[in-house]
Amino acid sequence: MASKSKILSIGGTGYIGKFIVEASVKAGHQTFVLVRESTLSDPSKSQLLDHFKNLGVNFVIGDVLNQESLVKAIKQVDVVISTVGHTLIADQVKIIAAIKEAGNVKILPVGIWIDDDRIHGAVEPAKSTNVVKAKIRRAVEAEGIPYTYVASYGLNGHFLPNLSQPEATAPPRDKVVILGDGNPKAVYNKEDDVATFTIKAVDDPRTLNKNLYIQPPGNIYSFNDLVSMWERKIGKTLEREYVSEEQLLKNIQEAAPPLGRLLSIYHSAFVEGVQTDFKIEPSFGVEASQLYPDVKYTTVDEYLNQFV
Ligand SMILES: NC(=O)c1ccc[n+]([C@@H]2O[C@H](COP(=O)([O-])OP(=O)(O)OC[C@H]3O[C@@H](n4cnc5c(N)ncnc54)[C@H](OP(=O)(O)O)[C@@H]3O)[C@@H](O)[C@H]2O)c1
Repeated sequence: MASKSKILSIGGTGYIGKFIVEASVKAGHQTFVLVRESTLSDPSKSQLLDHFKNLGVNFVIGDVLNQESLVKAIKQVDVVISTVGHTLIADQVKIIAAIKEAGNVKILPVGIWIDDDRIHGAVEPAKSTNVVKAKIRRAVEAEGIPYTYVASYGLNGHFLPNLSQPEATAPPRDKVVILGDGNPKAVYNKEDDVATFTIKAVDDPRTLNKNLYIQPPGNIYSFNDLVSMWERKIGKTLEREYVSEEQLLKNIQEAAPPLGRLLSIYHSAFVEGVQTDFKIEPSFGVEASQLYPDVKYTTVDEYLNQFV
């Protein structure tokens, strides 16, 4: 059997990256994490770094903004997984240049959200991010770097603990705000499942130069159906307030930056329905739960039980 690829995680100490690192180790890959010098002495990261050390993760000192350090890190591995935060998305061109220079790397999964090539109707500020992410894809392809683009969709921890009610810290018990008519279907995935599927794709030729869509059937819900499921769990009917698209677009324009960004993401997912309004064709994509039926993912139904 061919040996497993060596994986470098860039962004491995971040929110989603830490799950990728854990899944990589668990699947038996020799795993490297690019860590900035300053992060090594950051008290808020010490517990995570100790955990990584105990797992046998190799730390490589480096910075996305330092080309030499990137090339040195990438030369040690076969695969790079980038989960850098959104402020560094455009800087992934530096990762691409370093991969090209290192010359030995097989695939580069990027994009922990949606398929940026199949988005429509996006509004600012989400729109600019989609444009930049799509440009990164074109740069990967132009360099001839083999890739898998991972569409993780909504990470549960960001969408479900408050049922996507901005500023709430728990799911609603009396009234719920629904954007648009609540009918487009969105996808929600638990972070460790996203990581498990992503790592499975690393050495799988079926995902080469394709989008990997993580759309397990138990995790696809319209907002109306999601609310109905929550109502059944708490044994109570909620008052539903529907916000028209016109009003939502006005709210986005008037909101302060973090809320405006969040609402523009909600607009794409819940009003435009961009996550599920196309058919996955074999020419450009594969669906993760179909490729890996052995993965026992957590369904949205199971996930919401913890909040009852
Ligand atoms: N689908 C969803 O629901 C969802 C939700 C949230 C985010 N996302 C997307 O997922 C991706 C990752 O987001 P995240 O929330 O996991 O990000 P995050 O928590 O902000 O993590 C960013 C990572 O990048 C590292 N980093 C920052 N600057 C660096 C530099 N100059 N050189 C090397 N590493 C650097 C950070 O290291 P330190 O630990 O040293 O800071 C950290 O590991 C983004 O594209 C974001 O838009 C998707």
